[in-house]
Amino acid sequence: MSPPAGLVRSLVEGPSLVSALEWHDEVTSTNMLALDAARRGVPEVYAILADRQTVGRGRRGRTWEAPRGTSLLLSLVVRPTVRPVDLPLLPLLTGLALLEAVKPSCPGTEVGLKWPNDLLVADRKAAGILVEAPVQGAAVIGIGLNVDWRAAERPETLREGSISLAEALPPGLPAPDRWRILAALLGVFSNRYQEWQRRPVAFLEGYRQRCTTLGQQVRIQRAGTEPLEGKAVGVGEDGALEVRQDGSAVVRCAAGAVEHLRLA
Ligand code: BTN
Repeated sequence: MSPPAGLVRSLVEGPSLVSALEWHDEVTSTNMLALDAARRGVPEVYAILADRQTVGRGRRGRTWEAPRGTSLLLSLVVRPTVRPVDLPLLPLLTGLALLEAVKPSCPGTEVGLKWPNDLLVADRKAAGILVEAPVQGAAVIGIGLNVDWRAAERPETLREGSISLAEALPPGLPAPDRWRILAALLGVFSNRYQEWQRRPVAFLEGYRQRCTTLGQQVRIQRAGTEPLEGKAVGVGEDGALEVRQDGSAVVRCAAGAVEHLRLA
C-alpha cells in the first residue's frame, strides 16, 4: 500500500527538507537505489520508500528483512556541509530523530537508543539505520522500522531480539500508523539535520539522555580484534563510545556491534 498522495504532497511542498519522494512496491534495496540517485546528483533530501525489499541491507554486511506492508523502509539522500570530522555523527543524529518521531506512537512503552543508532522498544530492536557514503559530499541514510508485525507474520529468518511497534504496545492499543510516523520522522529529521549543520555537536546531549547503552556493562565486537568488555561511560564529540574496562583506562570505540550484558 502506497502512502496517501496528500501526505506525499505535503511532505514535498511543506516545511520539511524533502525535495522529492519516490515510492516503490518492491525494490532490491532502497539504499541501493538511493546510492544510484546520489551518484546521479539528485538534490537533498531525496527520499526513496518501498513496501518490500528483496535484498535489504543491514549493518556489518547483514541483510534486513521485513514482511511486505508492515514496515517503514526508507532511504534519504543528503548532502551535508559539515566538516568531514563531524560526519560520523550523522547516524547518531538520525537515531535521535527516529526516536523522537516514534515515541508519541508508543504510549506506556520504553523507547531508547542502543549505541550507535539502533532503536530499542521495550528493550528489543525495532529499527536499524545504515548510513553509506557513495560519493564525496553525499550520504545515504537507510532506515528500517518495524511498525506492525504480528508474531504470526514473523519470518523464521528474522533476527532474535527484534520487535515491531505494534508488538511492543500494551494490549488493546491499535497498531501505529506508518504514514503518520513517516511524516513525523521527516519533520523531526529536517529540523535536527538543519541544526546539526549549524552546530554539529549540539544534539549530543539529547542523544546521551536517550542512549540506554550508557551506564551499562557492554561487549563490543570490533573488526579484526578481540571483543571488548566494560562499562559504557560516555559518547564523545566524535560519536565514539567510551568504555571503561575494570581497573584500566577508557577505550574509545568508533565502530562495533554492541551487546548489552545483563548482570545477575
Ligand atoms: C541495521 O542492520 O541495523 C541497519 C538496517 C537498515 C535497514 C534499512 S531498510 C531501508 C534501507 N534499505 C536497505 O537496504 N537498508 C536500509
